[in-house]
Amino acid sequence: MRFPLNSAFIFTFGALGGLLFGFDTGIISGASPLIESDFGLNVAQTGFITSSVLIGSCIGSLSIGALSDRFGRRRLLIVSAVLFLVGSGLSASATGFASMVVARIILGLAVGAASALTPAYLAELAPRERRGSLSTMFQLMVTVGILLAYAANLGFLGRDIAGIRDWRWMLGSALVPALLLLVGGIVLPESPRFLMERGDERGAFKVLTLLRKDMDEVGVEAELDGIRSVVGGRERQGAGEALRRLVGSARPALVAAVGVMVLQQLVGINSVIYFLPQVFIKGFGFPEADAIWVSVGVGVANVAATVAATVIMDRFPRRTLLVAGSVAMAVALSALALLNILGDASHAAILTMVLIVLYIVAFALSWGPVAWVLLGEVFPLSVRGIGSAVGSAANWIANFLVSQFFLVLLAAFGDNVGGPFAVFAVFCVLSIPFVLLFVPETRGRSLEDIERGIVGD
Ligand code: BGC
Repeated sequence: MRFPLNSAFIFTFGALGGLLFGFDTGIISGASPLIESDFGLNVAQTGFITSSVLIGSCIGSLSIGALSDRFGRRRLLIVSAVLFLVGSGLSASATGFASMVVARIILGLAVGAASALTPAYLAELAPRERRGSLSTMFQLMVTVGILLAYAANLGFLGRDIAGIRDWRWMLGSALVPALLLLVGGIVLPESPRFLMERGDERGAFKVLTLLRKDMDEVGVEAELDGIRSVVGGRERQGAGEALRRLVGSARPALVAAVGVMVLQQLVGINSVIYFLPQVFIKGFGFPEADAIWVSVGVGVANVAATVAATVIMDRFPRRTLLVAGSVAMAVALSALALLNILGDASHAAILTMVLIVLYIVAFALSWGPVAWVLLGEVFPLSVRGIGSAVGSAANWIANFLVSQFFLVLLAAFGDNVGGPFAVFAVFCVLSIPFVLLFVPETRGRSLEDIERGIVGD
């Protein structure tokens, strides 16, 4: 081991990809109107600049993320950090529509890769009794990234420091966390489970000894035995074999992960995260600056509730958290829809805000963290990389579709948010039977125990 690292450092730096995920998806709401006027873009072009990250993310998770069963979690985290650096640099220095789209797609590749790699990496490092809390670090970083993006939007707006346009500062500020992720990737240890899968038992022993400071050698050996029992003399598999396993013996895990990932988006979270200022400007006639402050308030509530989620994550069954979150979100969204469809929408701003905060808090305590935690723990070791990649890509595809659909629906309802919120409420309700039927309980079990419960062969 190169450095005497402690767990706090490992899990914070290991989760940094989440911060860039949140930052790069959150920053564009404030930057896009400025870029639009600077480059003289039409609405469709601006829309594409926003969504190109989502397209890149889908490709990045499926390609780079899927390679992690072969090259390891850590090495590919370094690749994604480099892509973050290149994408942030290029987007801050873009000279027109085409170069901005290229830069945003590169950023997307990085975001997608990080979202496929990080949950599995954290789950494989964490001790089982604290795996939920430690894996929630990823979602916590996502929410901090979103909040930092809102803060950067506010802080740089109208300030052309050193003669450089404000939006270039907004986009360029992502270079700092990208650099930190690169440093983290270089000094962090490889996942002990990946090392075992590769047959490097000595390496796995060393990493586990470093991670389990409160355990003696016997405890570390016992954990290694557990991992050995699922690796058990398996032949090295090619990509075709991995895919066959994924849709064959690992299918229950695939169904659970893809379903949870898609539903996490269908409950409509990004209608609030990406479009909240627009909702308040168009729906309630708020001035732009006030609308951004509403976003900041929601961003703070999102972070605060996710901090609380790290505390409760290992105390309640994951399935209970998901179902409770669905019920609370369905209630808040139904009330929002009724208020805005039946009532006089222009007078409903304050109540809408309160209900949106309730909805965000419910999401942040349930579907926000639990979806990513489950993604990292539900797949058998031999297909964990490729499975996480497919699950994460499903999240990005659903995100893309919901974001596009939201704007169309909002226009169809004459800029009344009641319409789209009613649709999202229906998905919250539908998510409940899905969880009860298809999602296994993973809390408190070792990854190897979960694997034995899921894989029939
Ligand atoms: C979701 C993102 C969302 C964020 C909000 C994440 O879990 O995957 O799409 O923007 O939560 O906090």
